[in-house]
Amino acid sequence: MGRFIIEGGHPLNGTLKVQGAKNAALPILAAGIMSRGEVTLTNCPCIRDVDNMLDILGELGAGTERRGDTIRLSPGDASRCVMPNRLSKELRSSIFMLGPLLSRFGRAVCTYPGGCEIGHRPIDLHLKGLAALGADIREERGRIVCEGKNLHGADIHLDYPSVGATENIMMAAASAKGDTCITNAAREPEIEDLQNFLNAIGCSIWGAGTSTLYVRGGMEHVPSAVHRIMPDRIAAGTILCAAAVTGGNVTLTDVCCDHMGAAFAKLREAGCELSQRADTVTIEMKGRPNEIKLIETYPYPGFPTDMQAQFFALCTVAEGTSVIVENLFENRFRHCAELAKMGAVITQKDRTAIVRGVEKLSGASVSARDLRCGAALTIAGLGAEGITTVDNTELIDRGYQGLDKVLCSLGARITREDG
Ligand code: UD1
Repeated sequence: MGRFIIEGGHPLNGTLKVQGAKNAALPILAAGIMSRGEVTLTNCPCIRDVDNMLDILGELGAGTERRGDTIRLSPGDASRCVMPNRLSKELRSSIFMLGPLLSRFGRAVCTYPGGCEIGHRPIDLHLKGLAALGADIREERGRIVCEGKNLHGADIHLDYPSVGATENIMMAAASAKGDTCITNAAREPEIEDLQNFLNAIGCSIWGAGTSTLYVRGGMEHVPSAVHRIMPDRIAAGTILCAAAVTGGNVTLTDVCCDHMGAAFAKLREAGCELSQRADTVTIEMKGRPNEIKLIETYPYPGFPTDMQAQFFALCTVAEGTSVIVENLFENRFRHCAELAKMGAVITQKDRTAIVRGVEKLSGASVSARDLRCGAALTIAGLGAEGITTVDNTELIDRGYQGLDKVLCSLGARITREDG
């Protein structure tokens, strides 16, 4: 078990390039298997979830090679459509392989996916969408078996704008016969990045970023494709929260500011000064944050659930009382108990938390319960008095590329211990 040992009280200062987006890289890597030609992905974050996805692709027979943030895939030789058990259990995003495998082989077998334990994460919308395209889906000894040699286009209305379901249906529909229209689709920017990648490997998809998506079936194959993974809006927001909590002055480059409206609005409400240019943002924070009256998570362009824990950490030291409502995942307040060990004053019931800001948190021994909880505890430790030990940092490494190193490059004092 790895841990971060954080000496609090050092403001963050400096300039940093933001990593490529985890939530774009994972479905795009999964989609890579649909291609018969060579695929080059740049700006791919070096994180554990990406490593796991590469292992999955390797086990399915695709060639994979990583050099720094560039990944080369040779999916032409892929021959298997049964997902490896252990890896699927570890990675929630293994569910993104269903659509691409169906697309490529007409058959996909996978176990129920694992990943962060942030509540019961059903996949009914994924399966309903694939069934509407003509896939035959059954459960066999705890595994999901999807068969669909002759997928056809369909009009699919999602009961909820699920990111993963939208992406899976897009990918399966790309090689179906005929056109597909997905309404009430999720509008997250990562879906647009996936659309751009799919079009680069020969698909014909438009509408991503809006709630109606069109997919022309019968993808054409191209010999090679190059795609740059978009910047990670959640990693960017995490660093901005850390700068806000420590009273710092940080410039982030390679940020798509258009994707960060909800987070920027809440940072401004907390009293941060933000100045943004095309792909750069500078945050300056003087003194203690103000309370944030209400943070409520919603699908994009609402406030992202993946930023809730980091803003929660900020609210624990705000001047005044903040209210936080988590609408997407029922078990995404696992940071509450850990932050309370550091002196945070929180009342939580069901999906609502009321946070009364204290002047300073105190260093304590805490544990990352999920990826974003780990990020929140790290932020809290940076602002706290004394030493904070965050253990279970493997969970943080799932989604952040060397979070400790990145923060240290801005003046934080963090030592990593690998267990
Ligand atoms: C993606 C992100 C994750 C983020 C989430 C919400 C990736 C790799 N992960 O996850 O970081 O927190 O979007 O922005 O991109 N739901 C159902 N049935 C389904 C699917 C989802 O009821 O078949 C529900 C979920 O329980 C949840 C809500 O829909 O309440 C949103 O989930 P979804 O958008 O699907 O999230 P993911 O794609 O899993």
